[in-house]
Amino acid sequence: MSASRPAAVVVLAAGEGTRMKSRTSKVLHELCGRPMLGHVLAAGRALEPERLVVVVGHRREQVIDYLAGEHPAAEPVVQEYQGGTGHAVRTALEQTGELSGTVVVTNGDHPLLRGETLAELVRVHEGDGNAVTVLTTEMPDATGYGRILREEGGAVTAIVEHKDATPEQRAVREINVGMYAFDGALLADALKRVTTDNANGEEYLTDVIGILRGDGHRAGAFLAADWVETQGVNDRVQLAQARRQLNDRILEAHMRAGVTVVDPATTWIDVTVTAERDAVVHPGTQLHGATHLGEGAEVGPNSTLTDTRVGADAKVVNAVCVEAEIGPEASVGPYAYLRPGTRLARKAKIGTYVETKNAEVGEGSKVPHLTYVGDATIGTGSNIGASSVFVNYDGVRKHHSVVGDHVKVGSDNMIVAPVTIGDGSYTAAGSVIVQDVPPGAMAVARGKQRNIEGWVERRRAGTPAAEAAEAARRAAEAGE
Ligand code: UD1
Ligand code: CA
Repeated sequence: MSASRPAAVVVLAAGEGTRMKSRTSKVLHELCGRPMLGHVLAAGRALEPERLVVVVGHRREQVIDYLAGEHPAAEPVVQEYQGGTGHAVRTALEQTGELSGTVVVTNGDHPLLRGETLAELVRVHEGDGNAVTVLTTEMPDATGYGRILREEGGAVTAIVEHKDATPEQRAVREINVGMYAFDGALLADALKRVTTDNANGEEYLTDVIGILRGDGHRAGAFLAADWVETQGVNDRVQLAQARRQLNDRILEAHMRAGVTVVDPATTWIDVTVTAERDAVVHPGTQLHGATHLGEGAEVGPNSTLTDTRVGADAKVVNAVCVEAEIGPEASVGPYAYLRPGTRLARKAKIGTYVETKNAEVGEGSKVPHLTYVGDATIGTGSNIGASSVFVNYDGVRKHHSVVGDHVKVGSDNMIVAPVTIGDGSYTAAGSVIVQDVPPGAMAVARGKQRNIEGWVERRRAGTPAAEAAEAARRAAEAGE
């Protein structure tokens, strides 16, 4: 049986998250390209719920801003004070009005939970005709978690919080993950009867299980086999552990799909990155955002790519690339910095100690060494000599330069924008190009060389240079 669309997914994200010791809301702390809350919402959205509700409280402005930007379909509901998880869900339901059908509730701080697991929870819930189904798991260390109490036959009777549990109850290994599927109408009714009579003086959502059981309804549990996936994050140590685990999962999926990851221990790939088969990722590489690796593309070692597209069979070595487009069979680095608006055509080359920005480099064109290319269009088959600068900024505004096809810009040129260097032209080494160069011309824009004969012997007498000059002069004279 496949799960139906739930009436709502309610995400609890109002808690303070004191242990993060942060000015940022706990659920907005990032791992693998999304905040924790983003991962939870992605899992929730996989169920295609009618409504996606996020309960916000602490640092709510941050969370509301994030939702407005990234998840406009999510509805924030403000919980004015943090009266417990039961109070949070009650507040959400007061806002949404009665929801008939399945309501899924999840904590906002469980970023590893997969949509498939939530879907399985809903399937079990609906298949068994339960009033509530709790996602549970067996934790090696259950400290702090709510324990699942079952009767003789195995049916779930209640959840008892760690603080309220007896020593025998604390010995139970099966814990409440903090994810549930409820019958919406029964949930709303039961929440009205939850008290604050417990160690924390809070309304516990978990009390709903006992209440519904007391009313004679069915309570069930879906035991997740993989406890790792169900872990919550309360501090930065757990955040780092969760990041490692999520990264491992992401790398594994890429490897199974035909991508080589040479060193998983030093490779970090955001959940949003895509790659085609035979792409190779070398050690020390980080791929962020909407980065895409084409078939056979090789990235790394030691490269960080953000929102960058790497074409098929292109190579990127020791580079930092942001919002760049690297064409097929192009080559970048080692030690290159491609900034936004860089577009490299097929077989283009950006070499060592080169920085580019708003730069279009045509097919087969090369910028091999020590160069800045800013605000420029370079045609096909052209070469930019070592140590050249596209001088694009006049102190107030940026200007654009154009280099045509099959142009040879000499080494150490200053190309002062706006200027056009025509097709098939050359420029001499050391030129400062301030005027357009017509197609096919050779531009020489530098001072003429003047040699002052004998200057060193006259003006630097007694130095090793003067001695060397003298010896050379004598040898020349003797040879005459
Ligand atoms: C809760 C469960 C516990 C379970 C554990 C799993 C209850 C009473 N206990 O405990 O059985 O094992 O999760 O991690 O539910 N929140 C609000 N508003 C509030 C209080 C909490 O939105 O007033 C949110 C928090 O931001 C968090 C989630 O609810 O995302 C869980 O709250 P937390 O205080 O962490 O509950 P636990 O004590 O961990
Ligand atoms: Ca928690």
